[in-house]
Amino acid sequence: MNKTSSPLAVVVLAAGKGTRMKSELPKVLHPVAGSPMLGHLLYAVEGIKPDRVVVVTGYAADKVEDYVTSTFGKRLKVSFARQTEQRGTGHAVQCALAALKGFDGTVIMLYGDVLMGCQTLGDLMKEHAANRNGLTLQSAVVDDPTGLGRIFKKGGRVVNVEEKDCTPAERKVKTANPGIYAIPAKALTKLLPLLKPQNAQKELYLTDIIALAPKHKLKVKVVPMEGIARAEMGINDRMELARMEALMQSRLRAHHLKNGVTMADPNTVYFSSPDGISNDVVIHQHVVIGPDVVIESGVTILPFCHLEGCTIKAGARVGPFARLRPGSVIGKGAHIGDFVEIKNSTIGDNTNVNHLAYIGDADIGSGGNMGAGTITANYNHVTKQKFRTKIGDRVSTGSLTSLVAPVTVGDDAYIGAGSTIRKDVPKGSLAVTKGETVTKANYKPKRK
Ligand code: UD1
Ligand code: CA
Repeated sequence: MNKTSSPLAVVVLAAGKGTRMKSELPKVLHPVAGSPMLGHLLYAVEGIKPDRVVVVTGYAADKVEDYVTSTFGKRLKVSFARQTEQRGTGHAVQCALAALKGFDGTVIMLYGDVLMGCQTLGDLMKEHAANRNGLTLQSAVVDDPTGLGRIFKKGGRVVNVEEKDCTPAERKVKTANPGIYAIPAKALTKLLPLLKPQNAQKELYLTDIIALAPKHKLKVKVVPMEGIARAEMGINDRMELARMEALMQSRLRAHHLKNGVTMADPNTVYFSSPDGISNDVVIHQHVVIGPDVVIESGVTILPFCHLEGCTIKAGARVGPFARLRPGSVIGKGAHIGDFVEIKNSTIGDNTNVNHLAYIGDADIGSGGNMGAGTITANYNHVTKQKFRTKIGDRVSTGSLTSLVAPVTVGDDAYIGAGSTIRKDVPKGSLAVTKGETVTKANYKPKRK
């Protein structure tokens, strides 16, 4: 998208604590649909292929930087600018200037708590292409603009007035500022030193560059956005966070329904991503689908399942009440039943794990049956070591089998009910832990 235009840098402001969240966790790391809000923003940024990205950090900077580096370090050319004292959004961008030294292109500036799609940024860039030497910003009319900067004309010029600085009449303006700007780097460098903390909050407001721009011969272009919900204008407290979550979920549900996923009651199914779910998947009520889940065609997810970081292959059936944790791969046509937890394990094609089981760090072949209550004992809590259990094809375990890892069970083996398996079981054999059943005839319990 950026290939025909000038070099592009994106500055994301993420230094604030987010006081109104009443949280130790920095605001931009609070999750929406399973990923930190800053993540959603950076995925959208990735879509416009910027040449560089500067994230301004301050409160809990290490945490924010760790998240960005681990998730986006390989996908974006990202650097950080520290704003040690949060003196306002204009000051935050001032802090980013050192990282943009020598950069001569377009700078897009975004707030870390305003979630938008890549489409919005694409639209901004299209509009900015015709206003390349000016300042381009978006605006939106919202029913309740409380707390937002209002955008209107004053003395023939576009201005942004923050809620706290508005007159009662100005407060009635419903055209608000989502905080999405594009400007040439050179112009930005000239305007930023002119900001003054002459406002109710005694801060350097980035929004003041709007009124300053024409004085320095920059054309201000306001691009109205349609159909914007209040939650998309910024997340400042838990109520707005919850509204954004609801909005995101309703969009994800609509997206998956459109792509051919059946949902018995869409309002009770929760997603983390628009990707990964094939058509002809059927999802029953009350299912949570976390990040990095792949579900192939013909899979049925029965009610009350929790899935994260797993792959479910074609035609498998999962649930009700199943939990699939990261690293789990469920084979074609496999059945995972009620109160079964699977973690970091491969379940072969057409293998059943139908009732009350825990399968962790295991590789199970195809065509097998893990009886009710089969448990892999994979973890030594003293040494904190984990061991793998290897089970071949067509293996059948009886009810309440414990497999103490590391242990290997060969193809076509059988394990008797109630066995605790501590030694490898060769293929084709039956392993039973002996525990004699003692019967006492005419038994009467002793009473006190
Ligand atoms: C800001 C805008 C307002 C706009 C609204 C849209 C200003 C002065 N106001 O208000 O016009 O309608 O966003 O959501 O710009 N931040 C820093 N350093 C700071 C202060 C803030 O990095 O010193 C970051 C925050 O972490 C946050 C973002 O900038 O991600 C926006 O700050 P916030 O305090 O939420 O601004 P609003 O009051 O919402
Ligand atoms: Ca905000």
